[in-house]
Amino acid sequence: MSVLSGARVVVTGGAGTVGSHIVDAAVAAGAREVVALDALVRGVPENLAPALATGRARLVELDVRDREAVAAALAGADLVFHQAALRWTRCQEAPRECQEVMVDGTFNVLEAAAAAKVKKVVLASSAVVYGDPVRLPFDEDHPTNGGTVYAAAKAANELLGRAYARLHDLPVVSLRYFNVYGPRMDVRSRFVEVMVRWLNAIDEGTPLTLFGDGSASADFVYVGDVAGANILAATSDARDAIVNVCSGVETRMRDLAQTLLELAGSDVGMEFKPQPPGQLPQRRYGDPLRAAEVLGFRAEVDLREGLRKLVEWRKNALGAVRA
Ligand SMILES: NC(=O)c1ccc[n+]([C@@H]2O[C@H](COP(=O)([O-])OP(=O)(O)OC[C@H]3O[C@@H](n4cnc5c(N)ncnc54)[C@H](O)[C@@H]3O)[C@@H](O)[C@H]2O)c1
Repeated sequence: MSVLSGARVVVTGGAGTVGSHIVDAAVAAGAREVVALDALVRGVPENLAPALATGRARLVELDVRDREAVAAALAGADLVFHQAALRWTRCQEAPRECQEVMVDGTFNVLEAAAAAKVKKVVLASSAVVYGDPVRLPFDEDHPTNGGTVYAAAKAANELLGRAYARLHDLPVVSLRYFNVYGPRMDVRSRFVEVMVRWLNAIDEGTPLTLFGDGSASADFVYVGDVAGANILAATSDARDAIVNVCSGVETRMRDLAQTLLELAGSDVGMEFKPQPPGQLPQRRYGDPLRAAEVLGFRAEVDLREGLRKLVEWRKNALGAVRA
């Protein structure tokens, strides 16, 4: 029987994109109770509607900076998935807030998880910890050269997780997500990811803006697969591990744009602008080998299929907002 069946599960950032899919997956895996903790700075309660309807999930509005509240929420938990974080742009604007939410907040979660003697903590890390590639694909032993405040916070989280794994014999797995996409992506706020920006451009009848010659690349991994990797991390024997969550496929931005135009049946085309001084490396894709070996994880949803799901969901989500 899975460690999830009958478990009490806590998901921080549980109303967000990835967190809400983990909530769904934990409910589907037979968890007795799933508690989504979220300060609702980016996530929205609608993301949890299907899980809340089962009667086995609930949303608690809570800030991970609140040490006592985190300790109380984690008391009696069996498993913790820690997703709460700020967007990287917010971290650049407000480094101290980033430190407080993402480093001190993670410390609160680890401390409370150790006190509650939970069976596993799964931490959301990011491929941005790698920085510019010295080799590709990025494997987990690649140097961590990330140069943003967000990357520094994620690297700190991984090491705090490792320290707690050893100090308290607390099983901790950190997952380095690559570019996550799919239903429940943020489609409303000031900063949206490139796919959403391009879908908005298609709606407005304006060309998709690419930088340079569009040859920059990324590794897109579908959000349902990311939730699946979290569940595998919780059920695996891994106790002190750092693992990529990626598709292993390098996608050029101009190919992504072309696929979106095809799926939308749009002829708005693309426009190319000079590359602004950017924070992200020109090429990025991950090595999925360790995830397969340690977690038995392999990304299953290919980009075209995942984009189709995103387009469909976005249409309904925007329709609901307008209604
Ligand atoms: N989306 C990606 O491409 C990607 C890539 C790498 C890593 N990650 C990491 O994965 C995790 C999930 O990302 P996501 O895309 O679902 O982001 P998201 O913004 O949708 O979810 C994060 C959630 O955390 C909540 N939150 C923020 N500050 C909080 C606080 N102080 N207390 C409690 N909750 C708070 C937000 O309201 C939001 O619902 C994050 O840790 C993120 O850094 C995401």
